[in-house]
Amino acid sequence: LNPSPSSHQMEGLSAANCRAKGGSPGFKVAILGAAGGIGQPLAMLMKMNPLVSVLHLYDVANTPGVTADISHMDTGAVVRGFLGPQQLEDALTGMDLVIIPAGVPRKPGMTRDDLFNINAGIVKTLCEGIAKCCPKAIVNIISNPVNSTVPIAAEVFKMAGTFDPRRLLGVTMLDVVRANTFVAEVLGLDPREVDVPVVGGHAGVTILPLLSQIKPPCSFTPAETEHLTSRIQNGGTEVVEAKAGAGSATLSMAYAAVKFADACLHGLRGDAAIIQCAFVSSQVTELPFFASKVRLGRSGVEEIFPLGPLNEYERTGLEKAKKELATSIQKGVGFVKK
Ligand code: NAI
Repeated sequence: LNPSPSSHQMEGLSAANCRAKGGSPGFKVAILGAAGGIGQPLAMLMKMNPLVSVLHLYDVANTPGVTADISHMDTGAVVRGFLGPQQLEDALTGMDLVIIPAGVPRKPGMTRDDLFNINAGIVKTLCEGIAKCCPKAIVNIISNPVNSTVPIAAEVFKMAGTFDPRRLLGVTMLDVVRANTFVAEVLGLDPREVDVPVVGGHAGVTILPLLSQIKPPCSFTPAETEHLTSRIQNGGTEVVEAKAGAGSATLSMAYAAVKFADACLHGLRGDAAIIQCAFVSSQVTELPFFASKVRLGRSGVEEIFPLGPLNEYERTGLEKAKKELATSIQKGVGFVKK
């Protein structure tokens, strides 16, 4: 009637194992960099997602504490923590979706490209683990510079013979989330009613909001277009400066990452018409990677939508975006090939 702590613990463990193994309808998700500024709120929100049955939290520091904390939430997902490179393979084995927010963030005065030297190596190592332990997983890359880290991941997977372009997605969702918010502010609407496609990439001028394609349809003056485009492109810098050395966007990013991961899981489940913007292997332009609207399904990206009609302002923006993107993509590819 009054079980000893150890048998009580055993009961809890076997129940967790039952749920994990027993084919509950959820998916297995790993977060790499789970103890960071983005990783922690992302882990918390994924623990609340009913589509997740198992949540693996991996980091090179502080995962035991974060895991203990999150595991006390009375939601369905079973949480397990993994610490350091020797536990990376266990963290990845059997995963359906891997989300990567590992790496250093920007400080005031830095561009995303300034993070390349540190984050490129981190993403490369983590993707080598994915190629080995869960080559069929959908991979969501958050670590910056996304315009280079996604090509790095692709090269690692190509070298391992596991590359499936449908399963590798750079997360540009925060640009869409910001665009919806800023545009709603100008129009006096609820941001949930606004849908702004954001294409190109995820840095400076490569972030190209298509304000001519907003839903609900509306038009802006040239001054409004300029103001909104610039605010969306510099939204990240707005946060970096406000945080004054304490990092970049973490809470809005975790929200955006969960919104995107949830869309990927709904796609994996076979739900219809799951459409989001993402930076993917693409033939929408002459570049090998480009962000645009994609339809998500059981195998990841199942359809990539063309850009649609652009106005002159957007066509000029597209040319600028492509120029910078070409360099960033080449830098990522070169890093793995060298
Ligand atoms: P953070 O420094 O707070 O957290 C990063 C975490 O990664 C730390 O817990 C650290 O221990 C961990 N880490 C470092 N090396 C690792 C490795 N080899 N394996 C596993 N984990 C490792 O940084 P924050 O604010 O969470 O940002 C993370 C990344 O996300 C940055 O590169 C940042 O630029 C990027 N980011 C991307 C956005 C996007 O829209 N795609 C938006 C905001 C940030």
